[in-house]
Amino acid sequence: MDKYIIDGGEKLYGTVRAQSAKNTVLPLLAASVLTDEQVKIRGVPAINDVENMLRILTEVGCSIKRQKDLTVIDSSNAVSHEIPARLTKELRSSVFMLGSVLTRFQRAKISYPGGCDIGLRPIDLHLSGLKRLGVEIVEKDGYIHCEARNLKGAEILLDFPSVGATENIILAAVKAEGITVIRNAAKEPEIVDLQRFLNAMGAKVRGAGGGTIVIEGVKRLHGLEYTPIGDRIEVGTYLIAAASCGGEIETIGVSAENVAALLHKLRENGCKIYAKNDRIVLRSHERLQSVDLVETNPFPGFPTDMQAQYSALCCTARGTTLVVENLFETRYKYAAELKRMGADIIIRGRTAVIRGVEKLHGASVTASDLRGGAALVLAGLKAEGQSSVIDISHIDRGYADFEGKLRKLGAKIKRVRI
Ligand code: UD1
Repeated sequence: MDKYIIDGGEKLYGTVRAQSAKNTVLPLLAASVLTDEQVKIRGVPAINDVENMLRILTEVGCSIKRQKDLTVIDSSNAVSHEIPARLTKELRSSVFMLGSVLTRFQRAKISYPGGCDIGLRPIDLHLSGLKRLGVEIVEKDGYIHCEARNLKGAEILLDFPSVGATENIILAAVKAEGITVIRNAAKEPEIVDLQRFLNAMGAKVRGAGGGTIVIEGVKRLHGLEYTPIGDRIEVGTYLIAAASCGGEIETIGVSAENVAALLHKLRENGCKIYAKNDRIVLRSHERLQSVDLVETNPFPGFPTDMQAQYSALCCTARGTTLVVENLFETRYKYAAELKRMGADIIIRGRTAVIRGVEKLHGASVTASDLRGGAALVLAGLKAEGQSSVIDISHIDRGYADFEGKLRKLGAKIKRVRI
């Protein structure tokens, strides 16, 4: 088990390059079983969620080769339609395998998926969408058994624009007979990237990025070599770190459009931000001014995956911020830990009231989920004195070389084995 030791108070300067987006790479890896030709993905990040997804692929019979920057998935010998429970427990995205395994084997067996403990996270929207495509579903002994002898295109209206359900339905519809229309689809950039990837395999998907996605089923998909988009949540985390600690950083690999809601808030906080193509420069030299309200919403709203890190910034801004978490029920576990560092936070249900204090002080704190863990690190970078963050395996799920990238920006952070 590792922990981080952080000596706070350093300003951050320099350039940081985005890893490939975790939330794109995971569905792309699942999608690789849609063809029996080789799928080559560039820049797959070295994070635990990816390792778990690769393990799942191996378990269904894929062979995986990692050559420098290229991950090669060969599913020509894939045989199994069963995703073992011990792996689905580790990773929520294992649920994407449902759509792609159904397309490949006409059946799938999976146990209820795990992932960050941030709320109920049901998969009813995934299942009802798949049923509309003709999938028969039986839930028994904690397993979901799906059978789809004949996947057929259908009109699907999602009650909520769920990212995962939208992706899963696309994966099940790409080779279905006829046309599928998903209304009230999620609009996240990762869905646009999935569309680009699938179309490069020969699929016919259009409309991603908007609320209606149309999928025309094709008979065959082929292999490809692909570079996924950069990770907007990772880049957002470094931008928040620099905004909070002060300094000047440049990020490369994510366009301002994909982090627009965050940049809007950081400008209101008093940061100077310049953006061109896939580069963003952020300057922060004064104590930040708090914004009144931050509310998480589906894209292009403020992302729930940046709520914790942004809340850490609010802890030392001048004034009070009201944070409303609309996506997940229990995404404030990190707040109790921030309080140990001197933060003034009151949580009531989905709302946090954060009164900015002048200083945080170093403390020993425990990460309990991925983004909450990152928020504790950001607070440690800002705090006076030394902090330690334990249970950082949560952070390793989503950030490749977090400490290395922060150190390059001038942060005093090290990983220690305990
Ligand atoms: C994805 C992201 C995750 C991000 C989230 C919201 C990946 C791998 N993960 O997760 O990082 O935090 O989007 O932007 O891309 N819901 C239902 N029924 C369902 C599905 C979802 O009620 O069948 C609810 C969830 O409980 C939640 C909301 O819909 O309240 C959003 O969830 P969803 O968009 O599905 O998130 P994920 O795909 O799990």
